[in-house]
Amino acid sequence: MADANSCRQTLERYLKARIPIISVRTTERARALELLRGIISSLNIPGFVHTLSQGMRDLVTNRSINEDRSVPGALDFASQQISQRQNLTFVLTEVADIEDDTPTARQFQDVVMLAAEKGGCLVIITSKPVWGQLQRLGMTITLDLPSEDEMRAVIQELISSYKGQITIEWAEKEEREAAAILAGVSKIEAENVIATLVAKGVIKNSDMSELIHAKDRIFSDISGVERVKLDGFDVSVGGLAGLKAWLDRERPLLTADLRERGIRPPRGCLLVGVPDCGKSLSAKAVAATWNLPLYRLDLANIYGQYVGQSEGRLKEALESADHVAPCVLWIDEIEKGLAGVTQGGGDGGTSSRIVGHFLFWLQESRARVFVVATANDVSRLPPELLRRGRFDELFFVDLPTPEERREIIAIYIKSGLKREFEPSLMDELVQLSEGFAGADLQSAVREVVKEAFRKGEAGDASVTPELFRRSFQNIVPLSKTNPEKIEEIRAWGRDRAVSASGQPIEHAGAPVKGRRAILV
Ligand SMILES: Nc1ncnc2c1ncn2[C@@H]1O[C@H](COP(=O)(O)OP(=O)(O)O)[C@@H](O)[C@H]1O
Ligand SMILES: [Mg+2]
Repeated sequence: MADANSCRQTLERYLKARIPIISVRTTERARALELLRGIISSLNIPGFVHTLSQGMRDLVTNRSINEDRSVPGALDFASQQISQRQNLTFVLTEVADIEDDTPTARQFQDVVMLAAEKGGCLVIITSKPVWGQLQRLGMTITLDLPSEDEMRAVIQELISSYKGQITIEWAEKEEREAAAILAGVSKIEAENVIATLVAKGVIKNSDMSELIHAKDRIFSDISGVERVKLDGFDVSVGGLAGLKAWLDRERPLLTADLRERGIRPPRGCLLVGVPDCGKSLSAKAVAATWNLPLYRLDLANIYGQYVGQSEGRLKEALESADHVAPCVLWIDEIEKGLAGVTQGGGDGGTSSRIVGHFLFWLQESRARVFVVATANDVSRLPPELLRRGRFDELFFVDLPTPEERREIIAIYIKSGLKREFEPSLMDELVQLSEGFAGADLQSAVREVVKEAFRKGEAGDASVTPELFRRSFQNIVPLSKTNPEKIEEIRAWGRDRAVSASGQPIEHAGAPVKGRRAILV
């Protein structure tokens, strides 16, 4: 793997050393050719390039030198020239059929042997592997997609040529941010995206979200992870002030350039706790408020039928996520995907290898992938997952506190009824809803909203405090049906996690109101 700079240096050395065959692995043919053109002209040696559409041309002057456009024709021509002249370099850009022992690969081999004698050099630009026997006669180098620094140079060069003609709000900070967003796309794709911004006649700071969308379109079809669309999705989270404050502090670090400071981009958080209290909702809210694409990794889907398949799939999925960064990667109910590990797993060790690979990626990847993982059943979480250096923070999401309940009720009243109610009613509802999960609050309000809808235009008048009361009294929360479950989850969270509400996690022994009613 090499960025453009080290690739240039290495290629220059290979060309000086007259390595008879060099394969440059890349999907960016134009960028590789640009590099080679620069080296050949600075070394001042003859170089030629073959394409199927134009035949053989001089690499520097672009003058046509052989009309035969076929690959065998190009190889014949190269072989003829190499036997007559020293130090010729031929670049082939469209060689199919060279991965195995094929007639083309054999013909190549002959020309390479001749080149080795005569100081000739064949360069293949390809995204595929080359037949081993041929490759062993020379060297391979991989040209990475543009790094953030190169991307910045691409952006600067493109927009600076329009200075004075269009309004450009971007300063260095925005250029860096744009470069971070575009990392992972090819140079041509990045140029197209920026050119589209230029075409608007003004480049604004707010264009960042357009860049994210453009990149998202480029990567809409990636494997292993599912793109979750949040368009028009209401993702207001009530409460969880501690989690929100932490997220606000992490956000700027995600797209900042942290290399000089020697720290990696934030890795994300694990949300554990009581079901239905906003863990999954928070994962979606992070992507929506940060204006980043949201991808969902379903670990249960990763498990394949054959040994080894699962790890391959996970690897591919995580590579995809690295590729689309910056993004939010949502792993819902992570304990389900990692199940079997704590029980010893009768699956030939697949799940422990999956966990191993996942943890390795969490710790090692430097991509700007912000992971939000959620878990309901904490007892099934592999302990390694909780160790320092994996997630940046482990939050415990508890049943909402009275203040949080007030916020959540207000959110759903506002969105469903488009009005506010007297503080005294709110006080009463907060009291009535002791022990409710977020989803319980939502469904209590939903009943009222439905009633108002049924009554049509006059509906609002029928929304009486009594209607609210009845609806709230009809809800039987989990804290009533299964208080032990909640106490168990809390006991676990108190020792290990940070409170997402910003309030201390209730003592495991503290009874949840209503408990007595069901213990009889
Ligand atoms: N804190 C909250 N604020 C607003 N809505 C909430 C909250 N907690 C739960 N809800 C509602 O309940 C639904 C289920 O919550 P969810 O986030 O899926 O729970 P879990 O913690 O089990 O992942 C949400 O989609 C949302 O409608
Ligand atoms: Mg959930």
